Amino acid sequence: MTSQELFERSKKIAPGGVHSPVRAFRSVGGTPIFFKKSQGAYLESVEGRRYIDFCQSFGPMLLGHRDADVAEKVHEVVDTAWCLGTCEPYSLELAEWVTSRLSWVEKLRFVSSGTEAVMSALRVARAATGRNKILKFDGCYHGHVDSMLVKAGSGLAGAAASDSLGVSETVAAETLIAALDSEESVASIFATHGREIAAVIIEPLPANFGLLVQRREFIERLVELAKKNGCLVIFDEVISGFRVALGGMAEVLNIRPDLVTYGKVLGGGLNVGAFGGRADLMDEVAPNGKVYQAGTLSANPIGMVAGLATLQKIEKVNAYFKLEEIGKSFAEKLNQLFFKLDAPFKVDRFGSIFWIRAWTDGAIRKISDIPQDHAQNFKKLFHACLNEGIYMAPSGYEVGFLSLAHGADVADESLKKFEHALKNYGQA
Ligand SMILES: Cc1ncc(COP(=O)(O)O)c(C=O)c1O
Repeated sequence: MTSQELFERSKKIAPGGVHSPVRAFRSVGGTPIFFKKSQGAYLESVEGRRYIDFCQSFGPMLLGHRDADVAEKVHEVVDTAWCLGTCEPYSLELAEWVTSRLSWVEKLRFVSSGTEAVMSALRVARAATGRNKILKFDGCYHGHVDSMLVKAGSGLAGAAASDSLGVSETVAAETLIAALDSEESVASIFATHGREIAAVIIEPLPANFGLLVQRREFIERLVELAKKNGCLVIFDEVISGFRVALGGMAEVLNIRPDLVTYGKVLGGGLNVGAFGGRADLMDEVAPNGKVYQAGTLSANPIGMVAGLATLQKIEKVNAYFKLEEIGKSFAEKLNQLFFKLDAPFKVDRFGSIFWIRAWTDGAIRKISDIPQDHAQNFKKLFHACLNEGIYMAPSGYEVGFLSLAHGADVADESLKKFEHALKNYGQA
């Protein structure tokens, strides 16, 4: 079966033929490739073609696909207990591992996705403060939680409107939206709504609308204003947590959020998310407190051991040091190539996360900084790369991920492919 044939079949029984929208190639056009195998930095399609993978399942695979040490632990638990729905030692080990290293995670609860983690953290914040409004940022994504599927509305400072059918205007009205990189925007919303806001939620390294690296002073000012107004700070580290440092951006910035959400790397490629933070806040959660939260598959043993094996290996091999080396060299060389071939791109990078962005002089820190023609240019680059055997996330607004498996050989191979792709793309 070819990808085309499988996609035709899939379209008959799944919306758009996919189980998560960006996989459908709508932003770049064409038929999605169906992959059947993965190993390290590579994917293999159903047609038997090999691709260098810079999507890495949208972030979880920090060690690369199917790391042997993680696989061993997964196989062990498959042989003993893969779904218990009871108290068990696997989640305890992972929870202790995390809380013993990340001082701001005094208590945590495992869930099965980043979306669930965010939804639950917001509920805790509302319960703990007795307030209803949440402040989020234009350009940050927090999963498909109703109150987070909003866009900037017109009229009142920060007012939001629903950004998906099925999200009621009443729910959307509880969310306020500020601009990234703008102390003024945040200050003006706090001046109007300060005492109604339960929490401000931010991706401290926004990586869902390109990579919009924020100034440290901006985040510090945001935290200061939140504290002054008695509102909680939630760091959504579903992407950045355990990816840019063990403690994510909280560690990088040396800021203690009140609550934090994790996913992706924490589960080493299995369905794991978590929310956690201050013990007094987490004690609001059932059965201790009155914030209801539950999950049939929460803390599933397979996810727990995959997560623990991943984190243990990260620590053992000094992963962040290596990933920084891999990322720095790769981004520098790719930038040189873009420059040499006069391509309209540039690479922004933070550790092992990179973004092939539009070529502009200045930094890109918010959506309005992104040139309009970027999506169109990326589309051409995407298909030229795909032809060469490079798989990237199929949208110019998605970031790329490097793993420990993207060593020098893979980097050299991919740079050659990028060079061919750029020549075919017509920029040489
Ligand atoms: C910052 C952030 N928060 C939340 C989510 C939602 O996570 P999930 O897709 O596991 O529900 C994502 C997903 O990409 C994310 O990037």
